[in-house]
Amino acid sequence: MDFRHLPTTVAAVASTAADALLVVVAGAKPPGDLPAALTRALQAALKQGDLVLEAGRTLYLGQLRGVKAPRVAFAVAADSTPRCLKSALAQGFALLKGLGGKHVAVWIAGAGALDAAHAEALATAGGDASYLYRHTKPSAGPSPKLARATLLCTRADEAAVSSGLQRGAAIVAGVTLARELANRPGNHCTPTHLAGQAQELAKTMKLEAEVLGRKEIEKLGMGALLAVAQGSSEPPRFIVLRYRGAADDPPVVLVGKGITFDSGGISIKPAAEMDEMKFDMGGAASVLGTLRAVAQLKARVNLVGLIPTCENMPSGQAVKPGDVVTSLSGKTIEVLNTDAEGRLILCDALAYAERLKPRVVIDIATLTGACVVALGHHRSGLFTPHDALAEALTRAGEGALDPCWRMPLDPEYDEVLKSNFADVANVGPRAGGAITAAMFLKRFTGKLRWAHLDVAGTAWKSGAQKGATGRPVGLLTHYVLAQANGV
Ligand code: BES
Ligand code: MN
Ligand code: ZN
Repeated sequence: MDFRHLPTTVAAVASTAADALLVVVAGAKPPGDLPAALTRALQAALKQGDLVLEAGRTLYLGQLRGVKAPRVAFAVAADSTPRCLKSALAQGFALLKGLGGKHVAVWIAGAGALDAAHAEALATAGGDASYLYRHTKPSAGPSPKLARATLLCTRADEAAVSSGLQRGAAIVAGVTLARELANRPGNHCTPTHLAGQAQELAKTMKLEAEVLGRKEIEKLGMGALLAVAQGSSEPPRFIVLRYRGAADDPPVVLVGKGITFDSGGISIKPAAEMDEMKFDMGGAASVLGTLRAVAQLKARVNLVGLIPTCENMPSGQAVKPGDVVTSLSGKTIEVLNTDAEGRLILCDALAYAERLKPRVVIDIATLTGACVVALGHHRSGLFTPHDALAEALTRAGEGALDPCWRMPLDPEYDEVLKSNFADVANVGPRAGGAITAAMFLKRFTGKLRWAHLDVAGTAWKSGAQKGATGRPVGLLTHYVLAQANGV
């Protein structure tokens, strides 16, 4: 979807040329900033009971005398916060995308001045509504109908709206890439495919890509990544992607879990919903999406993406419970449960990250079912021992409407990872599973400024809406932009 803005006046809203005019009404009172034709239509609809000024309500009116656009729709927002506007816009776009128009103009009434966050909310709502998965389902139809959104605004708001749309469009491009890759089935999106996609991204966005194969991974000594990969006939990859926007500043490093299918390995998962484990590379997809967004915005920051990627499969060659492997850090790990594979591939990537002398390292992983139990599907789990980093990531999540919640990392939680046969065990008991997974990773971060995002509950949706969400590309992009100089 293409996003534009157009400065206008209240009266001129009615003469906007577009296939549809979507009017968002913010708040429970009929707004004062509507042209006469729309005020009349709104009053009639309220009087007849066709519309109530309650969040979530929409009304389609079709053609309206005195309005140039051949389709008019209303969507009601609880208030004028970006969060509430985004949900009303999502409802409005959902209604319009079933109709014939391609270009929708949007007027937000009753909200007062619009700022960059409002414009960004429009872009992300539009991007979500217009994404269509077609890679293995061409019968889903041609590319989505809604192709362009124009946000109408006042002259005074023009600069803020324009920069918000620009940021929003970059995030949409990143989220769309992340959704697309994560949605691809495991037999299509293999570690090799993911590496190819990273190389393609590097070409289009002028990044530097390096892809290590099994031999090179062996030479480096990533014994934990290799242990997970050894049960599969798909070879592993270790992807390094660099965006240079700031001479030789220390980079922000993002590490994404890239398990292209997680069967559990010898500690095999139950059959129900196992198909969803194709999404177990959602962290990796979000790293690629964030690189795309940051590069599109030409942010003055250095950013490196690290993606350890492989399949987790059972076979005669597979790693077994009780096996001890040696990680890149030199620490030995007793693999008590082969289904706790994410932390194994991540610990080698975290040890590798140390070599880049980063200013900060953030790993993103669909790591634990326990995190889904703790936080559900709304907030991602945030784990970090550094208070200022926790605050910055929390703020980024709120600003992007892609929220997270900080979880504890007390040293007491580390006890359960003791092993009689290795430096560390890869699992503890069920209780506190999201935290002990983070404690495992923490052992491999040394003196790094490090945070871990567990996106097991937020990277995809189940049920009728099954599909990747592209989270936490928004959060990460906001965080990285806040680290950039002069932006
Ligand atoms: N990829 C899964 C985590 C997961 C599970 C994400 C369910 C989303 C929904 C991860 O590799 C895993 O299997 N974790 C285990 C860890 C356990 C063996 C300690 C889990 O959460 O059950
Ligand atoms: Mn697993
Ligand atoms: Zn997994």
